[in-house]
Amino acid sequence: MARDFTTVGVIGLGTMGAGIVEVFARNGLDVFAVDADEPGLAHGREILAGSTGRALARGKMTQEEHDALHERVTFTTALDDLAGCQLVVEAVPEQLALKKDVLGRLDRIVAADAVLATNTSSLPVTEIAVATSNPKRVVGMHFFNPAPVQQFVEVIRTVITADDVFEDVKALAERLGKKPVVVGDKAGFIANALLFGYLNHAVAMYESRYATREDLDAAMRFGCGYPMGPLQLLDLIGLDTAYEILDTMYKQGRDRLHAPTPLIKQMVSAGMLGRKSGRGFYTYE
Ligand code: CAA
Repeated sequence: MARDFTTVGVIGLGTMGAGIVEVFARNGLDVFAVDADEPGLAHGREILAGSTGRALARGKMTQEEHDALHERVTFTTALDDLAGCQLVVEAVPEQLALKKDVLGRLDRIVAADAVLATNTSSLPVTEIAVATSNPKRVVGMHFFNPAPVQQFVEVIRTVITADDVFEDVKALAERLGKKPVVVGDKAGFIANALLFGYLNHAVAMYESRYATREDLDAAMRFGCGYPMGPLQLLDLIGLDTAYEILDTMYKQGRDRLHAPTPLIKQMVSAGMLGRKSGRGFYTYE
């Protein structure tokens, strides 16, 4: 029988994690939102409040819906609070050792039939899965940024994921109003495998002073109809995340397309992470 997900957990309340919390809570699920410490929780609360406050102000949500959404979310630093969740999605930074550690710990906390999902953008889901005692219950559930807006979800099925697990997660994604696809465990899955070579190339063009940032972005927005130009999009994704994704894809495929353009690393070292730090290719208030 298909799982009826009513209580879920999200670990890591950065841009993606907080967005995923909102998606679940908007759709009536009870959510345990976990981060390592109080500043992490405060950051998650701020992102959630900002996004739902905007929806409220724009009349996309009533005050009652807004309040009910927030009541469904419990913020906690205790991983043990996830014991009753039927699904937990981890959205901690893109570091394999960290993700393996989180799933390994979760594995001992949740019930035997609970599903463990990783929101990784490019790391091997199979390797994350084998950090648990039962890799059959591990899938990728890859949301796109901003999670409350973007409709696509990649459900990553490894060679060992049980059929009922990815089918139940796919059904849940549909319930959340998303368009899920099931895809194998290849670096970058579908979207990032196509996207990141392009983003990297745009940075190389910018680095070589071939064109201004505005003109690079205008070309893709107004010439090709993309909602954002590549440098604007990198600022949205976060330069640190983009670097990790490129580096992972480069190491897995050894293709020059994904060798991170040096400027990305320099900007990360300088704390220019994009929107989230107030400055990336552009400056934000
Ligand atoms: N959180 C929640 N909602 C948000 C939001 C956020 N961070 N940013 C925008 N929105 C909402 C707005 O509230 C607005 O909602 P309503 O229409 O209901 O009022 C809607 O999105 C449109 O926003 P705006 O009018 O402010 O701006 P826009 O029309 O320029 O859209 C955008 C903004 C949705 C970000 C759009 O520019 C876009 O789709 N850009 C491309 C994003 C993209 O490519 N994402 C994928 C990145 S790759 C990835 O995520 C994978 C990975 O692993 C790294």
